[in-house]
Amino acid sequence: MNLLFIFLLVRLITTICTNAQVSDPCDVDLLQLSLNLEYLEAEFFLFGALGHGLDTVAPDLAMGGSPPIGGQAARLTPFLKDVAKQFAFQEVGHLRAIQEAVGGFPRPLLDLSAANFARIMNDAIGETLYPPFNPYANDINFLLASYLIPHVGLTGYVGSALYLNDSSIRTLAAGLLAVESGQDAVIRALLYQHALLNLHPHSITVSETTSRLSALRNRLARSAEDRDQGILQPWHMWSGGVTHGNIIAGNNDSVAFARKPAEILRIMYATGDERKPGGFLPNGANGTLAQSYLTDGMVASECSLMPPIDFYYN
Ligand SMILES: *[C@@H]1O[C@H](CO)[C@@H](O)[C@H](O)[C@H]1NC(C)=O
Ligand SMILES: *[C@@H]1O[C@H](CO)[C@@H](O)[C@H](O)[C@H]1NC(C)=O
Ligand SMILES: *[C@@H]1O[C@H](CO)[C@@H](O)[C@H](O)[C@H]1NC(C)=O
Repeated sequence: MNLLFIFLLVRLITTICTNAQVSDPCDVDLLQLSLNLEYLEAEFFLFGALGHGLDTVAPDLAMGGSPPIGGQAARLTPFLKDVAKQFAFQEVGHLRAIQEAVGGFPRPLLDLSAANFARIMNDAIGETLYPPFNPYANDINFLLASYLIPHVGLTGYVGSALYLNDSSIRTLAAGLLAVESGQDAVIRALLYQHALLNLHPHSITVSETTSRLSALRNRLARSAEDRDQGILQPWHMWSGGVTHGNIIAGNNDSVAFARKPAEILRIMYATGDERKPGGFLPNGANGTLAQSYLTDGMVASECSLMPPIDFYYN
């Protein structure tokens, strides 16, 4: 009687603590991998738009994780500030939805500093820009910094599709994917309007900068082909050469490509190595999949051990 009571109590507490309704290992692990990216997006857009982050807006969702490094209000026109605010609260919603569905973990340490973005931009351009790239300086710079993030999340959601088991989680992932790709399309369309302007005060165009950032993502992910592309292409695959515009990135049939979990981490760490944290996540991402790489398999994810994972993604 006593034991049963304790058992029920422990189960109740566990349920309340993790808030999870789903226990399939891939459902939990893949959505929790995305949770890291949603934290990053939420904090970046909140700080950019409002000058403060989750700890002010929705402290419970941070679950006691360390505050981000270097977030700040961006110098934005009222129009872009409004767009950034909308993105920010979309991301807050995504955090809530994922935590409710599969349980969460404390916000990982995030590096939103101008210096971190400047290093990534230097890597992309292949030289040390002076003055350094500052994501918070103006609309175009903020859009270029934003170009880096939701697209990675969306390719991760495409990659999850094969492994999500529970239909309610598949539906959630489809809904998250839809809004992430909406954000990516808005960011790319706004950059496309200024494609031929220079990245002030440097003599490289906005369009060329997006191509270099996409090439950097391809390089860091070590993916099989150059799938990631900027907003202008020499000819456009699906258009038969009728336009150079590429405001929505996809393959020849305009189908978005998938990235596997290790590729997502290689990009977010900016190290090209899922076992070497850095970049936006100086201490690494949390959740079983990310931790399995950081601990040499001491934390095992049943999901990452499923055989077709590499076959499917390449
Ligand atoms: C996948 O979902 C089905 C039905 O919802 C369930 O019976 C099965 O155990 C799940 N698979 C895993 C690996 O959890
Ligand atoms: C990772 O998440 C677990 C809960 O799943 C938590 O106990 C741990 O402190 C987190 N690690 C970091 C570095 O935040
Ligand atoms: C896409 O189309 C171009 C031009 O028709 C072709 O050269 C290329 O091989 C195609 N790529 C794939 C992955 O099918």
